Amino acid sequence: MSPSPDAPTQIFACPNGPLLVRGPIDLVDGDGEPITQKRKTVALCRCGVSAIKPFCDGTHKLIGFRTETPDAAS
Ligand code: FES
Repeated sequence: MSPSPDAPTQIFACPNGPLLVRGPIDLVDGDGEPITQKRKTVALCRCGVSAIKPFCDGTHKLIGFRTETPDAAS
């Protein structure tokens, strides 16, 4: 089920994976230039090794990227 066009943008931090962004966003590069989005939901890399940054390419699985829950980090 796709979100309503009026629904707020949602960011979901996938355990051991990317940030999933659902909803409208303006994604720009370091120079402020727009980055074309082809999908309504985008996965943004947070492991740092994707070959298609800022998007996730699944490499986080190959390197065993692990996240911590907020409780575990404190
Ligand atoms: S989070 Fe998927 S490649 Fe970095």
